[in-house]
Amino acid sequence: MIKISPSILACDMADLKNQAKLVEDGGAEYLHVDVMDGHFVPNLSFGIGTVASLRPHTGMVLDVHLMIENPEKYIADFAKAGSDIITIHVEATNHIHRALQQIRDNGCKVGLAINPGTPVSMIREVGHLADMILVMSVNPGFTAQKFIPDVLGKVREIRAMYPDKDIQIDGGIGAGNIYEVTEAGANVIVAGAAVFYEEDKAAAIQNLKDKAYKG
Ligand code: DX5
Ligand code: ZN
Repeated sequence: MIKISPSILACDMADLKNQAKLVEDGGAEYLHVDVMDGHFVPNLSFGIGTVASLRPHTGMVLDVHLMIENPEKYIADFAKAGSDIITIHVEATNHIHRALQQIRDNGCKVGLAINPGTPVSMIREVGHLADMILVMSVNPGFTAQKFIPDVLGKVREIRAMYPDKDIQIDGGIGAGNIYEVTEAGANVIVAGAAVFYEEDKAAAIQNLKDKAYKG
């Protein structure tokens, strides 16, 4: 089943609570929270307090994407704040095996992300520890960037390795290319601009879901 995870990086951040409600009412299953530290990626965004503030206002799965160096320092705090899924990057720590286990030990679902330039071989020894593999389809840091089609081969490869895991794709996805990524094997679709830049969020989410199955 395809799930849509609107990324609040693209929303009106002064209106977070209402924006979350709009996409929840619009049928989104997940809410994607992009955390950035200005080191792993060239931007700053949300933190632990953002997750804690959103938690009581939404029943959606809080899908927390940590684009931070040494994420192990903050995993317990993000779990306590109410994250359901915590995703960390294989490129962000020397001890990915331990960090993935820490997420599990803190009671969250485990996500493992790879950047566009990172080969699938980087996750071969640890992929089994994750519930969800996130394939970045832009270089992380900003919303509304252009989709990098080169990553489709990695999605296919990871789907063949893990037929039963969730595969998330993040960056540059819209109604025009969602079928390409679901057809390759992705089933959790992050959408920033494609949802939040639209006036009618519910219609945008429905359109993504329709196109995800039929192209
Ligand atoms: C990029 C973030 C994405 C971003 C997606 O660094 O990880 O989640 O917000 O935004 P769009 O869908 O607009 O590319
Ligand atoms: Zn993201």
